[in-house]
Amino acid sequence: MSERIKEIVLISASPKVEKEEPLSAYLASLEERRFKSDEFHVSNVNVRQCVMKNQTEEAFRTMLATDAMIITFPLYFFCLPGLLMRFLQDYDQYRVRQGNVTKNARVFAVVNCGFPEPEINEDAVRVIKSFSRRIGAEFRFGVLIGGGGMILGAKDAPFMKKVMEQITDAFDLMREDVLGNGETPLGNRYVSVRFPRKLYFFMGNYGWMSMARQNGLQKKDLYLKPYRDRN
Ligand SMILES: Cc1cc2nc3c(=O)[nH]c(=O)nc-3n(C[C@H](O)[C@H](O)[C@H](O)COP(=O)(O)O)c2cc1C
Repeated sequence: MSERIKEIVLISASPKVEKEEPLSAYLASLEERRFKSDEFHVSNVNVRQCVMKNQTEEAFRTMLATDAMIITFPLYFFCLPGLLMRFLQDYDQYRVRQGNVTKNARVFAVVNCGFPEPEINEDAVRVIKSFSRRIGAEFRFGVLIGGGGMILGAKDAPFMKKVMEQITDAFDLMREDVLGNGETPLGNRYVSVRFPRKLYFFMGNYGWMSMARQNGLQKKDLYLKPYRDRN
């Protein structure tokens, strides 16, 4: 007998404006490719867009009815971007207003950060775990990705093959977990880019300086602390 089609929501939550494709959006598109089949119905929620367009209620309705959600976001100040934090809090309130309905959804987190060490994302994954508990959902595991700053630009290079495979393998594991209603606890997946650390930081610093120049600033301006200087 065939099982009913499972509902999946892919929540992508980079606050970046669209002129530059966020890595989180790219990762969500990879998730979609892994899930696209007769067994799933996939919905996409772009948190920034739905907040800007006042469409959060529609997104919340979809989240309330889902079998699984994958929350994909960048690390901001060692935690969730404020936009996503607020979105999840608002969802929790919406859920309570709707009578606390819970569908035992599964939750997965995909977090990427600028520093090379994926472990830096652990606190953010813990926040998603606690959110899952609060909404009566089951947190399954997180995919923690370091070196996010270079993944989009280098994803097709031969040295990135293993990294990209690790990422897609983790998404396949999510798929199997949802399909099989897995109950075995699954640990987080850690993905780090193998790249000379010094060169990575050199390129990162160069990126900040070039952005400063484009905005009419000099290197020293990057070290200003305008809010602190005001007191
Ligand atoms: C405001 C801000 C805060 C950030 N905070 C951190 C941080 O605490 N640790 C870190 O490793 N990277 C940090 N980053 C880097 C982002 O996590 C990284 O660039 C990520 O790849 C962006 O993903 P996205 O393209 O999906 O937005 C920060 C970036 C911004 C813009």
